[in-house]
Amino acid sequence: MLSLIYVSVASQALTTAEVEALAERAAKANAAREVTGMLAFNSRSFMQLLEGDGDAVLDTMRRIEADPRHHSITYIRQQQREARECPDWSMRSMITPLTGAGSATVFTKSLPSQMELDTKILFTSFASSLTVEQAADYAAREQDVMHGKREAGND
Ligand SMILES: Cc1cc2nc3c(=O)[nH]c(=O)nc-3n(C[C@H](O)[C@H](O)[C@H](O)COP(=O)(O)O)c2cc1C
Repeated sequence: MLSLIYVSVASQALTTAEVEALAERAAKANAAREVTGMLAFNSRSFMQLLEGDGDAVLDTMRRIEADPRHHSITYIRQQQREARECPDWSMRSMITPLTGAGSATVFTKSLPSQMELDTKILFTSFASSLTVEQAADYAAREQDVMHGKREAGND
């Protein structure tokens, strides 16, 4: 079984709803190919874990690479594994950033029990990797979208 993790940069500001919709669509396509994994978004960048049959994962990756919603895709881990780390997730989205006290612990605990500790650390540090100012910016933008002050994604 092939398991890979990449990071990429969002091409434009995306709202929580847009990322969730993207992951929902991805989950449907992945379920048909028995690909599983998770997608974290920290308001600027993505980190995604994909796992499954080698051809299925590489085929999925080719389509992801061609998606204009992100760029600068960088592979950070690729390995053959016996077992899946996210066996129950066709594609779970995790929207962060984490800034509040204790939020990293809550995030880590929400990851699958099958996930290796090093993978949990990778995702948790990615999810926490925003300055407080950037996180506040993001929260303000989400609030505006919720209150209808701005159209989703129109930033
Ligand atoms: C960050 C990111 C992650 C994605 N993850 C997946 C994925 O796990 N599986 C998938 O099929 N598509 C994924 N996509 C979407 C594909 O890039 C592409 O939009 C989709 O496969 C096209 O489907 P369509 O040809 O049916 O429109 C992702 C896109 C982005 C930007």
